[in-house]
Order: sequence, then structure tokens, then C-alpha cells
Amino acid sequence: MNILGIDIGGTKIKSAIVDTDSGSIVSEIYKVETPSNSRPKYIIPILENILNHFKNDLIFQMIGIGFPASIVKHQIISINNLSLKWIGKPITAYLKDKLNIQCHVINDADAAGLAEITFGEESCKSGNVIFLTLGSGIGSALFFNGMISPNTEFGALKINNRIADDWVSNNARVTENLSWQEYGNRLNIYLNHIKELLSPDQIILGGGVSNELPKFIDYLPQDLNIRAAFRKNGNGIIGAALAVDIQHAQYKKQIVEDTGIEPATF
Ligand code: BGC
Repeated sequence: MNILGIDIGGTKIKSAIVDTDSGSIVSEIYKVETPSNSRPKYIIPILENILNHFKNDLIFQMIGIGFPASIVKHQIISINNLSLKWIGKPITAYLKDKLNIQCHVINDADAAGLAEITFGEESCKSGNVIFLTLGSGIGSALFFNGMISPNTEFGALKINNRIADDWVSNNARVTENLSWQEYGNRLNIYLNHIKELLSPDQIILGGGVSNELPKFIDYLPQDLNIRAAFRKNGNGIIGAALAVDIQHAQYKKQIVEDTGIEPATF
């Protein structure tokens, strides 16, 4: 199915039409700067603008959104890179109401990880796999044998008295003007900590900096199996679209189970 996926980040809001059967992006990637004032009232018009931009491609009236916050039972419970005004919002219902379209919202890193587990290398479908997005903050998704444990916040770990989100993100690299070696050394400390805690079989890196992995991989723990996400920073868009597709399929299955009627369309 061709579905619009939107990846809301602290720096950019990226969107594209995704073929959720093949996991490929089938339109241009439309990017808009995240406004410095990221209260809901400034983000909603951007989302409306995205819907308008893709209006001719919206064959299915539903969208998937990756959102940079902890979302428990559809509610935002904590947020670091966008306005605190989002906290407490029943995010899926709220955006559905504001945008007037069926939508599903999940944590941005969970979305990116979901794309990897579904469309990435076969090897990530088993074992203990950690997907990290290195962008404005650090996002994380944890999988065991392909099943997600949602809403992990490994960016909230403290290293040398600093929150990893502020110390190891791509933002930290840019704002502190770190060389690739300095950045790699920080990431090395962080990944060793993750290794101690979780003994991962594989660590997959996404987010803005994953395109540059060859420049710093030599500084990272050599005993860890580390690689870049299959679609790098595009994983988030793909996973957002995939999440709404999965949600819709479950909803449809439930209706068929409850009523015994196979609906023509939903
Ligand atoms: C947020 C996470 C998010 C990550 C990446 C962190 O600051 O707490 O929920 O996944 O940034 O955007």
C-alpha cells in the first residue's frame, strides 16, 4: 500500500509516500524545518502543509507519524526535543482530530527500528537487537527475535554525569564542533555502556549521522556487531507508514472476527 509517512524530528520534519509492501520510498522526500517554537499550534500547520503537498498521492486516507517522545497508551508522557506543551496530549486522537485524517503515531525511533526489522537484513530478525537514532537526540528501539519492547529511552542514560541525549547525539557533535574521532570516542563510551547493560547481538545506527558511519566506525567497540540502518535517516519515514498499515490491518482483522463480514474498504 502507498501510505504517507511523516518523521517529526527536533530539527526537520520529513515526509514521503512509502510502499509498505516493499519498504521503499516512492515519492520525493519533502523536508521542512522544525520551528524553534515547536508548540502544537506551530507544528499542526506544518503537518497540514505536508498533507496538502501530498494530496494527490493520498490514495489511502491514513497517515503514519513518528514522534520524538515517549508515547504510552497513545499519550505523550515525556519529551526532550520539542515543546513541553505536547506532554499529556492523547496524541493519536489529537492529531486525527486536528488533521481530519486517520492516523497512527508511534515513537520515532521505534518507527525507524520497525522499518529495519521488517525490511533490513535477515540477521536482525533474531536475537537481541538495538536500533539507535543519532540525530537531535538519541532514540532507541529494542527488539528480541523481531519483537519490539516499545518506548525504550536509552538516550536518557547518564554517562560521565551527562545525559547521553545531550552528549552523544548528532546535535552534540555539531554544536560542540567535535571531530569524527572525538565524536567516535564518545559514542564508544556510550555503546560500551549499552553493551554492559544489554549484551546486544547487533547494534544498528540510524538518524542523521548514520550516513557518515565510515568516518567514525573505527573508534567504536570492535567486539560489537555495528552497522548502519538499511535506509539510514529514511528509516523513520518508512517505519511511520508501516506502523499505520499494521494498525489498520489489525483493526480490519478485528472487525472481520467480530462481525464475520469482510468489508470492501475501510
Ligand atoms: C526522545 C526520544 C526520541 C529521540 C529521537 C529523545 O530526546 O526522548 O523519545 O526517540 O529523542 O528523536
